[in-house]
Amino acid sequence: MPPFPQTRLPVTDVARQTFAQVFGGPRRIFRAPGRVNLIGEHTDYNLGFVMPAAVDLYCSVAIAARSDRELHVYSAHFAEKLVCDLEPPHPSPRGDWSDYVIGTAIALENSGFELRGANLVVSGEVPLGSGLSSSAAIEVSTGAALLNVSGHTLDRKQLALACQSAENEFVGARCGIMDQFISAHGQAGHALMLDCRSLEATSLPIPSDVRLLVSNTGVKHQHAAGEYNARRRQCEEGVRLLSSALPGLQSLRDVSAAQLEQHKRLLPDLTYKLCRHVVTENERVLQMADSLVQGNLAAVGKLMADSHRSLRNDYEVSCAELDIMVDIAAGLPGVIGARMTGGGFGGCTVNLVEGRAAESVGRELMAQYEARTGIRPETYILNATDGVTEVT
Ligand code: GLA
Repeated sequence: MPPFPQTRLPVTDVARQTFAQVFGGPRRIFRAPGRVNLIGEHTDYNLGFVMPAAVDLYCSVAIAARSDRELHVYSAHFAEKLVCDLEPPHPSPRGDWSDYVIGTAIALENSGFELRGANLVVSGEVPLGSGLSSSAAIEVSTGAALLNVSGHTLDRKQLALACQSAENEFVGARCGIMDQFISAHGQAGHALMLDCRSLEATSLPIPSDVRLLVSNTGVKHQHAAGEYNARRRQCEEGVRLLSSALPGLQSLRDVSAAQLEQHKRLLPDLTYKLCRHVVTENERVLQMADSLVQGNLAAVGKLMADSHRSLRNDYEVSCAELDIMVDIAAGLPGVIGARMTGGGFGGCTVNLVEGRAAESVGRELMAQYEARTGIRPETYILNATDGVTEVT
């Protein structure tokens, strides 16, 4: 059994050292976190509610401005360098790590921020493809770094929106705003309940005796990106069909459970089930916020279980490995609640665990999961942390 908790790379040190080797000279370092989502899955692009927390797994970017308009970007992870001119015509996406960096630079310029050329080293420790938003961490750290060395003040909301548009327009994933928003705005010790329409966020303290235990199933099923975009299209189709009875309807955010039942006959069965997930999940986020404020951890656990069931049965974005991980957690003493987190089709589950039980729950989860699936999982005990910062 691997040691627990697992040792992590000091990612900022890697960025610092690699910059000295590849470019040399003075540099600044910006660091942005990955995230877990406690509840509110596949609601962000339906302009509903989400409840993510930024976690202490980071991407760090070491940067120094250049006198021209070129970006020289080196990935410490892939040991690969790319040069790109900020002057149009802009390059096409290459389908690799560099798209998150170049896409962010182009999106910032398209939003009106003129950037200076720069030398950058990117170094990340958010496990890739794990559903913990390694991509948002790269985008937000790169964006903050480029804005700062170009003399712009950091507007976190605009940064998050530009990073989302990098992902939508350049990378080609039609994600919502959750991941980029929390990587920019995270708050130590807190989850944020975000209204994805108004972009108003409410801080919710994570009780001091509760730990975030994240378990990585170690699988990422094929077609996840295609399935994600397909769910999004089907939600839009649901809105279109429902708007014949609810004139002016813009998003599922504005549909109540009662309205959905009343107009169910307008929807094909599959679309109805997808809409039901979104509508009930939005209600669960609001109830979860109340339950956290009241310290009602039994209610928190039930809401997380209901969320997972709805994602599995109605939205159909879970998979056997995620279900097994959640099922094991549900039977372990000290677990308050467990559910899949992120887009689904593999990746991680999030467990809220009583502090003193966190390590033993982690060990049991790993052992039982490996016994049932033959896959050795990873488990991380994480802390809710601040959004993007400059590191000295
Ligand atoms: C991914 C996307 C987010 C969100 C989640 C599902 O993480 O990037 O915008 O839609 O899936 O809740």
